[in-house]
Amino acid sequence: MVDTVRRNTDVEGVAGGIGLTALLVAASRAIETHRHDSLARDIYAEHFVRAAPASADWPVRIQQVPDGDANPLWGRFARYFGLRTRVLDDFLLQAVHAGAPRQVVLLGAGLDARAFRLDWPAGCVIFEIDMPGVLDFKHDVLDGLSATSKAARVPIPIDLRADWVTALTDAGFDPAAPSVWLAEGLLFYLPITAETYLIDTVDRLSTGGSALAYEVKLEKDLLEYRESPLYTSTEQQLGIDLLNLFDGGPRPDSAGDLEGRGWSTSVHTPFDFTRRHGRGPLPEPNDALEGNRWVFANKSPS
Ligand SMILES: C[S@@+](CC[C@H](N)C(=O)[O-])C[C@H]1O[C@@H](n2cnc3c(N)ncnc32)[C@H](O)[C@@H]1O
Repeated sequence: MVDTVRRNTDVEGVAGGIGLTALLVAASRAIETHRHDSLARDIYAEHFVRAAPASADWPVRIQQVPDGDANPLWGRFARYFGLRTRVLDDFLLQAVHAGAPRQVVLLGAGLDARAFRLDWPAGCVIFEIDMPGVLDFKHDVLDGLSATSKAARVPIPIDLRADWVTALTDAGFDPAAPSVWLAEGLLFYLPITAETYLIDTVDRLSTGGSALAYEVKLEKDLLEYRESPLYTSTEQQLGIDLLNLFDGGPRPDSAGDLEGRGWSTSVHTPFDFTRRHGRGPLPEPNDALEGNRWVFANKSPS
């Protein structure tokens, strides 16, 4: 059992706290979806945004933003989430199509609709772990749309501070078979003990041939750039103080830990993928994205 910071999960569902950040990502995906040069399409995203009282009046198209792409939140930050979505879509699909894994675990799944929108090979099972209130909201919206998933989907409504391993294995996860794991936009909200436990547990439950992707922020940059336009515009326009939600404690070297346990890792900046795709955020002064890193890890076949 791991300790975490109460403020992060005090508010139930998507009404506030960290749950509200799931709606921020959903609104960004909705905007990305409707761009002429969209990097990722998520037709469910705008329905989540419209259904939640907290976000019902947020934009879901860049044309609804008076200053358009010049708006740091709905322009550059939303484009960042669009790029992240695309890169991690590609990671997951590559892992299941090229290799053996048929089990996919989305840690802190939030309003991720990948089970409904990506083309999964036959036999895939998508396990989605998040707080009960967030998954309840998600199901209400998806049920209202009569959405059909493209793979078997197993929601696991549980706090990642609780015994989620038992919940996952009771739900059918098989640690003896390869798996793919994703922690997108999650780890910087968790204290070091929770991240260490999570990475340790993913390793323990992963047989050779498994893969993991996650996002971190460099410790030196995590709480920097307080005046970055991304943070100030998110607070001013949505009332979300991201720096207050992030855990302020030291960060573990999770990539180093994984290397020591037989995983090979590669660490990228988001800007690497902006250059690869020809669109997305590029570095700028006083940049809250400066310390973001996307880590890709593969466990060697034993
Ligand atoms: C920024 S959102 C990202 C959601 C999703 N991964 C995405 O990128 O669209 C962070 C998510 O982590 C979840 N989360 C944070 N702390 C958690 C915890 N202790 N247990 C379960 N879920 C948690 C929140 O409920 C929220 O849905």
